[in-house]
Amino acid sequence: MVISATPHHTAYTIHHASCFGLEGISPDTIDALVTDPPYGIGYHNHAWDKMMPDPAIWADCLRVMKPGSFGVVFSSVRLMHRMMVALEDAGFRIRDVMFWSFLNGMPKSRDISLDIDRELAVNSAVIGQYKYIQGYKKTGAVHYKAPKGKPICSPTSEIGKKFKGAGLGLKPAYEPIILIQRPPEKSLKIAQNILKYGTGALNLEATRIPYDHAENKVGHNPHPAGRVCANIIRTEPFDDGYDKFFLVPKVRQHKETYNSHPTVKPVNLMEHLVKLVSFPDQTVLDPFAGSGSTGLAALHNNRKFVGYEIVPEYFEVMQKRFDNAIKPK
Ligand SMILES: C[S@@+](CC[C@H](N)C(=O)[O-])C[C@H]1O[C@@H](n2cnc3c(N)ncnc32)[C@H](O)[C@@H]1O
Repeated sequence: MVISATPHHTAYTIHHASCFGLEGISPDTIDALVTDPPYGIGYHNHAWDKMMPDPAIWADCLRVMKPGSFGVVFSSVRLMHRMMVALEDAGFRIRDVMFWSFLNGMPKSRDISLDIDRELAVNSAVIGQYKYIQGYKKTGAVHYKAPKGKPICSPTSEIGKKFKGAGLGLKPAYEPIILIQRPPEKSLKIAQNILKYGTGALNLEATRIPYDHAENKVGHNPHPAGRVCANIIRTEPFDDGYDKFFLVPKVRQHKETYNSHPTVKPVNLMEHLVKLVSFPDQTVLDPFAGSGSTGLAALHNNRKFVGYEIVPEYFEVMQKRFDNAIKPK
């Protein structure tokens, strides 16, 4: 199913189909790519996230994008190297990696010293009881009241004591966003490429970070609109005296009651990225559109949008979000 609409100054086409092959898009017609593909980590056991996308999709993207055009691709900390190699092998240049950093990530590790006691058939000591335990529902992280008597344990074997508190992973505090560019046409200077295709540069002017009004030292030649946006984006001020970044809180699950997508990205984060890699009236592509956060960001910012989503439930959510966005107020 393909749905097209031309509300106000913008237009969108969304395909309820697999993105592979990017059917319906002619070569050299897309101005920017903004996408949040499956990370390949099996997020909460969702089937669509079990594998990273077949690298063939990146060659499809390169083919439909204009020479010199930019893109951003979300990835995971553990597998971004594979994503970057796949993008580079398809012909993209890696221009940067942005970090969207946050404080509320949950460590997934467990205390290995208790496994050691168990392995040695030694009883660990009970030193208290949990009041709450952290768990997951389809809708996201939750805290359950702990079942009565769920014990807090401490190792008792000698080797267990030595490894007390040892685990396997760090607290996650960022998501990487890879900034890529299709190389400009050979033999063209950047300005010539822009004149021919309208692509070839980042829209830094639209993504400046305004100075904090309490700030008095802003460098030698302060630009009236603020600083050039950095390759770090934060979810909240970190109270470290250095809040010169774009701030985007994470999305509260079920903020929109009908949106069941488990990995919705904040629309204002997608707006920042859309504004960075494209200019007004240009066309933004998201082959892994999910519930349409990239598309909404494009529509809000006078860009055209082309998206693909394979899961019917998410495609319907995207349609509904677009309908709500373009409803006359
Ligand atoms: C990480 S989610 C994107 C979430 C989106 N950023 C949002 O805010 O709603 C990735 C999406 O890609 C979709 N997907 C996976 N493989 C696909 C394919 N071959 N073609 C189109 N969509 C696909 C999944 O169903 C999932 O909704």
